[in-house]
Amino acid sequence: MKTLNPSDLGARAFYKYLNSAVAPRPIAFASTVDAAGNVNLSPFSFFNVMGIDPLILVFAPNRRGRDNTHKHTALNLMEVPEVVINMVSYDMVQQMSLSSAEFEKEVNEFEKAGFTMQPSELVKPPRVQESPAQFECRVLEIKEIGTMVLVIAEVLRGHFSESILDENGQIDQTKTDWVARLGGDWYARAHGPALFEVPRPQYGIGVNALPESVRNSKVLTGNDLGQLGSLTAFPTEEEIQIFGETEAMLTLREEARLGCQYLPDVLHAHAQHLLERGQVREALLTLLLGEG
Ligand SMILES: Cc1cc2nc3c(=O)[nH]c(=O)nc-3n(C[C@H](O)[C@H](O)[C@H](O)COP(=O)(O)O)c2cc1C
Repeated sequence: MKTLNPSDLGARAFYKYLNSAVAPRPIAFASTVDAAGNVNLSPFSFFNVMGIDPLILVFAPNRRGRDNTHKHTALNLMEVPEVVINMVSYDMVQQMSLSSAEFEKEVNEFEKAGFTMQPSELVKPPRVQESPAQFECRVLEIKEIGTMVLVIAEVLRGHFSESILDENGQIDQTKTDWVARLGGDWYARAHGPALFEVPRPQYGIGVNALPESVRNSKVLTGNDLGQLGSLTAFPTEEEIQIFGETEAMLTLREEARLGCQYLPDVLHAHAQHLLERGQVREALLTLLLGEG
């Protein structure tokens, strides 16, 4: 492991590690207006949802490293504390990037980047019509620490494109195509094979409840152990015995014997196949047959 101290390296150099490691980050495409009504649109990946009641989004249009001045977004929010946070999908990414260029304060990045201004219903800044999810927000607080300018905003209204909804009106995660920011010029796309589901356990027996030979298996991975540890109950002796007498297990044992294979290795490999198919309980039962 490479160990680094921000105090030795300096914050700027350390930040390169932070930015690449705390990733991918979602992107707030923030539309704001100044007191004169000039519109601004800029992306910010120091962004996330932070609260449910009230519904809170936070993002950070930080001071410019170059001259420590405030970004136009921050200046606008200090004049008009309202913002629309538009989510960025893959088909918007190049235009979104263009909007991040350093345009003069009065320049409207909707026009520069070729996006369509759609009037909001509750706040002054317009929405990005092309964005599949748009949140009209009021700013509750702007918190400054050093060069950080943290905007804490409450969501007042959300707009969602039909194209990302399922038949129940909920967002279908397989229909969204959000992009996120990593370090340097890297982006990630949350779409297609990049998506996977992990059921959230209510309770788990824990990896430490598994026999030592399973925990130290040469075959099983950390993900395999995590799935096994998420089971809610340890199998009983009776269950293990009945499972051991099933046709599949008898065949497996016989194959190992005929092939002169080490039984625990065969059982671990078979358990891994079961885990890939989501048969977690059967996988643990298989592994326990190699015990004792
Ligand atoms: C994907 C992306 C994410 C960005 N995230 C941030 C951020 O979180 N904070 C920040 O200060 N600047 C961020 N920037 C840079 C700003 O978008 C850029 O400084 C922009 O010119 C600010 O515009 P403004 O001065 O009109 O507010 C990001 C740029 C891109 C392309």
